[in-house]
Amino acid sequence: MIVITGATGNVGRSLVGLLAAEGLPVTAVARRITEADVPAGVRAVAADLGDPAGLRPALAGADALFLLVAGEDPQGVVEAAREAGVRRIVLLSSQGVGTRPGAYPHAARFEEAVRGSGLVWTVLRSGGMASNAFAWAEPVRAHRTAEAPFGDVGLPFVDPDDVAAVAAAVLREDGHDGATYVLTGPVATTPRERAAAIGAALGEPVRFAEQTREAARAQMARVMPPPVVEGTLAILGEPTPEERRVSPDVERVLGRPAHPFTAWATRNAAAFR
Ligand SMILES: NC(=O)c1ccc[n+]([C@@H]2O[C@H](COP(=O)([O-])OP(=O)(O)OC[C@H]3O[C@@H](n4cnc5c(N)ncnc54)[C@H](OP(=O)(O)O)[C@@H]3O)[C@@H](O)[C@H]2O)c1
Repeated sequence: MIVITGATGNVGRSLVGLLAAEGLPVTAVARRITEADVPAGVRAVAADLGDPAGLRPALAGADALFLLVAGEDPQGVVEAAREAGVRRIVLLSSQGVGTRPGAYPHAARFEEAVRGSGLVWTVLRSGGMASNAFAWAEPVRAHRTAEAPFGDVGLPFVDPDDVAAVAAAVLREDGHDGATYVLTGPVATTPRERAAAIGAALGEPVRFAEQTREAARAQMARVMPPPVVEGTLAILGEPTPEERRVSPDVERVLGRPAHPFTAWATRNAAAFR
């Protein structure tokens, strides 16, 4: 049994679909989830990663766990997994843990717990995801405008479907034990270019509006803790050479190149229509 946490999210939904399509036994976990959220044959269990004891029903019979950074007790989650008989953990972390020491303390603690677990582990450090552009869905639908800071700074955003495909490979095949992969897209794109790609997918131009750092900070502070806001602003505005670089890891694991942002925009055009 493979247990997928974050199963209703951009990555998790895709990952559950990939594994279920292969006929593998899957349990899908999120705080709010029912059988209606998952493909036929997948077990859906509502549980909170912030409550490791409450994960026991979700973890029953599991041999592999796809873990998100959520909740405040990574050691407790790892312990619950070990007690349930989990042999392998694949953690979805952030590239910033490696490039911005101290800026992502929460994710760093999860990495530490997974690496020290004594179980077979792989860490996936994702760069910024293409699906962050869903933040533009409402303003693009309403007035064909996309607003972001640092409009001309390029980063190789990764398609969450590629993150899911790498996770699926790492969960079902050997050879990735003790590996830390950095997941990026195949080419750097700027926010201005990503807005234009959404316009092209819609067949109608989308206007890009440059946001100030302060406005972006205020917006991010509604959904992220302060150190993560500052780390993320620094990555978006003043990326290091490593953060700008296209990582070979998606292609290395999948044997095919990562999808460009344009492919994500085309697949998700309906959200912006
Ligand atoms: N977006 C980026 O640029 C980026 C970059 C690097 C790393 N990441 C990491 O990638 C992860 C997955 O991204 P995503 O886009 O797939 O996320 P998402 O679409 O926001 O989905 C998050 C999923 O996790 C579940 N969840 C959240 N808190 C939970 C908890 N305490 N216990 C159990 N389930 C919980 C949510 O469902 P419920 O709300 O119903 O629980 C949902 O299924 C992020 O959480 C982040 O740590 C993201």
